[in-house]
Amino acid sequence: MNVLSVVGARPQFVKAFVVSRELRTQHDELLVHTGQHYDEELSDVFFEELGIPEPDFNLGIGSKSHAKQTAQMMTDLEDLVDDYDPDVVLCYGDTNSTLAAALVASKMDTQLAHVEAGLRSFNREMPEEVNRILTDHVSDILFTPSERAVGHLESEGITENVHNVGDVMYDALLSAREKATGQSTILEDLALEDEEYLLATVHRPRNTDNRERLETIIASLAADPRRVVLPAHPRTLDRLERYDLLETAEDELTLIDPVGYLDFITLQADAEIIVTDSGGIQKEAFFLDVPCVTLREETEWPETVDAGGNVLVGANADAIERALTNPPQSSSDARPYGDGTAAKQITRVLRKLST
Ligand code: UD1
Ligand code: UDP
Repeated sequence: MNVLSVVGARPQFVKAFVVSRELRTQHDELLVHTGQHYDEELSDVFFEELGIPEPDFNLGIGSKSHAKQTAQMMTDLEDLVDDYDPDVVLCYGDTNSTLAAALVASKMDTQLAHVEAGLRSFNREMPEEVNRILTDHVSDILFTPSERAVGHLESEGITENVHNVGDVMYDALLSAREKATGQSTILEDLALEDEEYLLATVHRPRNTDNRERLETIIASLAADPRRVVLPAHPRTLDRLERYDLLETAEDELTLIDPVGYLDFITLQADAEIIVTDSGGIQKEAFFLDVPCVTLREETEWPETVDAGGNVLVGANADAIERALTNPPQSSSDARPYGDGTAAKQITRVLRKLST
């Protein structure tokens, strides 16, 4: 089968790391990078350290308003689909790169496959929620990470060609863990080997684009007696500066540039608590059995909360303090996100469809 895969943002590189590797054992893949993320530490580092195949095309779209970014991606992707006539366009997750690929493929003579289908936060103010609902509804093949995701699709009338393969990020973590142990020197570099520390990330517009929320989050982290390591997304750095919070963040926290995946999973595995508003990181904390404090009011990964290891605190100072004092503990050995063979299963399903 000829597969045209579309990636563009950090978490999609992590997903493509395991899926592309497996796909290429049985299919021909053309990998397209939209250029949504372009900084070395948000893009190149993942390709280099994880051995992801060089993208066949980088559309170089860059940062823009939602409409401009999505529209420009669509124009270029339409030309590529026209030229290469793939059997399947494969997209991941819920970013603008996902939506652009979905809208293009759904109106052309190719099938659309969505990896990470069926997730819902039930908060339509998140651009990601809009992206994932629209993508699911125009997909021909839907790869879900969990039973609950299958249920969401069912309740929206999507029941055909739904394959519950598990979560590709679980595959990625299992695959990179050993390499990270051998290669990452981040704990030594930050002198964290003998120290209890918290690892934090913040990048959701709801938190970064609201001064009060961002200030509360930074102040709550700063109030914890332990060291707090915060690899800052460029959006976050920009808002810290704009809201005059950068100095406090630099003084009170260990504010660093985003790090590569091998360093980041090393930091996660060794942290006392992970504090985040990221989707992927909530799951990685769960897989690594590290308590997770989620700076959101809802999550598309509720299984992690049900298991006890994740707590939703929003940007509420009291709730954050309580969670940092009494971190959530997972009390379940449930494995709601499959067995780490999602990429293999995706490859197999596509193979069956081609025969
Ligand atoms: C995007 C996704 C989000 C995902 C996140 C992963 C959408 C709508 N959002 O959010 O779902 O969780 O990626 O990290 O698709 N910037 C840089 N360098 C870069 C990329 C971005 O400086 O390489 C800055 C730009 O100022 C840009 C801002 O970050 O305006 C936001 O980037 P954008 O890709 O629009 O959204 P993210 O917040 O990264
Ligand atoms: N990540 C990373 N370096 C960092 C922060 C995150 O490698 O400095 C990885 C993390 O391990 C996870 C993915 O990036 O695999 C999550 O991406 P992000 O939080 O940007 O996006 P989301 O999952 O919220 O869409």
